[in-house]
Amino acid sequence: PYVDTKVILENADKHGYGVPALNINNLEFLHYIIEAGIKMNSPVIIETSQGAMKYAGNGDFRKGAEIFVKMVRTFADEANIPVALHLDHGKSFEYIVAAIKAGYSSVMIDASEHPFEENMKITKEIVKIAHAAGVSVEAELGQLAGIEDEAVAAENVLVDPEEAKIFVEETDVDFLAPAVGTSHGAFKFKGAAKIDYDRIKKVKEYVKRPLVLHGASSVVPEFVEIAEKHGADFGGAKGVPAEILKEAVKCGINKVNTDTDLRIAFVAGLREFLNGNPKEFDPRKYFKLAREYTIKVITDRMEVLGSAGKA
Ligand code: G3H
Ligand code: 13P
Ligand code: NA
Ligand code: ZN
Repeated sequence: PYVDTKVILENADKHGYGVPALNINNLEFLHYIIEAGIKMNSPVIIETSQGAMKYAGNGDFRKGAEIFVKMVRTFADEANIPVALHLDHGKSFEYIVAAIKAGYSSVMIDASEHPFEENMKITKEIVKIAHAAGVSVEAELGQLAGIEDEAVAAENVLVDPEEAKIFVEETDVDFLAPAVGTSHGAFKFKGAAKIDYDRIKKVKEYVKRPLVLHGASSVVPEFVEIAEKHGADFGGAKGVPAEILKEAVKCGINKVNTDTDLRIAFVAGLREFLNGNPKEFDPRKYFKLAREYTIKVITDRMEVLGSAGKA
């Protein structure tokens, strides 16, 4: 069924596991996520960025939001697992309202680039509107950036746990994304991968709500290799390995935002297939490996995070 993101995440919080929040732009990735969720008996959170809304609506983000809600509901209504649809990194009031009106389960207001007080003010406003419509809200504190220089990073970009406490009390936001050392994309760390576990624990202790880890892709070496073998150039790509994700969940992370891993698995499969089948031009056929690899990366992640078997 189609559910409130809050139901999925409060269960995850209560029982100490993480749920992957997986970005889509089109029908195929939705198929893969639903299939993976059913196969693993895992709840799933599907997210779309503002860019995805615009893309799906062929330039009209309101239409895109409506298309996504209809698509996701169509699959969710008959699936035997909880499925939620979330707006990822909502920054524009118009997009957020469009998502709420269309019927998204939850929205993110990302005002994290603003100073603390301003972020709090903007978030509070969105929470008021969203809650009135029965839609739950995620917000972000701190800036997503790797911890290369620890002292500087901690002061400038990572979440301040004391601020997190005030922020949640003041805004009544449902889920909080604290910056703890990850970043978006395929190039997260120059040196060894690391995140600030103590900071997650402190934030969890202070806010006692589901926490979100952004930039959580592992950049799975197996798929990077396949893609590169078939012509990709992902030199220097590095993500958050499974062991770190596991530990982050133990520290209190419940929603694990993942986009890059799906993109890399898909393109690895697509490149491999096209390379080996130069005469093929039917997308239903040339997505074969892309589909397999994308489902594999999702089912593996459900095992790692502990959402497998929790539907
Ligand atoms: O955090 C951003 C997501 O990976 C989606 O990015 O704006 O390219 O759709 P996008
Ligand atoms: P990745 O780029 O690590 O997949 O992060 C995605 C994300 O945080 C979406 O909000
Ligand atoms: Na999000
Ligand atoms: Zn993100």
